[in-house]
Amino acid sequence: MLDDHLASFAHKHHIEGLTMPSLIALSEGRSDYSFDKAKQFLKFQQRINNELLKHRVITDNRYAAWFEHGDQNLAQIKAFIIQFSVFSNQFLIAQLYKMIHADTLESMRASKEILANEIGVRFKSTRQTSGGDNLGSTEGSIEGGVFHFGAGHFEWLYNLAQKLDLSFADIGQPKHGTRPTLFFCDELIRLYGGDDYQISQAASYAVENWAAAGFWGQLIKGFHLFNERNGTDLPLGFFVWHDRLECQHAAHTQEELEELYFTLELDEDAFIRCGNEMLDGVAAFWDGLDEQRRELMAVH
Ligand SMILES: [Fe+2]
Repeated sequence: MLDDHLASFAHKHHIEGLTMPSLIALSEGRSDYSFDKAKQFLKFQQRINNELLKHRVITDNRYAAWFEHGDQNLAQIKAFIIQFSVFSNQFLIAQLYKMIHADTLESMRASKEILANEIGVRFKSTRQTSGGDNLGSTEGSIEGGVFHFGAGHFEWLYNLAQKLDLSFADIGQPKHGTRPTLFFCDELIRLYGGDDYQISQAASYAVENWAAAGFWGQLIKGFHLFNERNGTDLPLGFFVWHDRLECQHAAHTQEELEELYFTLELDEDAFIRCGNEMLDGVAAFWDGLDEQRRELMAVH
């Protein structure tokens, strides 16, 4: 919570809207942090809001809106799991590139946290945040954490796939990906995992805002309805865990953007352009899913 002191500080200097870490840095007169730059940032934020965050994949994800109703037939739900499993594996490659391309030890570690957690190292948290299931905490660090094969996110998807009579060989491989899915994965590797720091940061910001746009919740809702209607018990760990994670991420994402803006000369046009390129890749994935489910409408 913004305390009174910082609130009146922000008001006095006309910089309301900045996150707390930035306000603290400004009030302490930390180097790189100036009021001019703060005002410049707030203008840039307006641009981001208008020219990036209104991307249709954030504001109008048609596939997720359809999925939410739980009207899928078996072929449609299988196709969805297969495409998501391809994405889940290819994401590891993008994340590994991001880790390798990190320009500080700190950011290498931040990327490594995500990668190691993906493949099965549970976060070690000082707080109990796991919500009573055994998915593990969504916060904390992999430092001193324990590896379990069964904690790999891919295995959560595999658990679900098995209930749909899909075998291990039916999921996860690039050869199972549709063209739009593979295009999305390639864009992730190119932009999110790219070696240009500003580009990868723009892609990260775009991906985080996509992930926080609410589609995880829509998918979970659709799965619950599907389970109810079909008397199935599809395990939803993969989706529940990511939904939980995103709730926490959203706040950090904005703080990271501000830190980036204050500490380096950000090319604003390039940031908007690359962010949009990343979201176009994301949109291709969902459009592909939407096209596929229409083709499978009559199949049972
Ligand atoms: Fe994951």
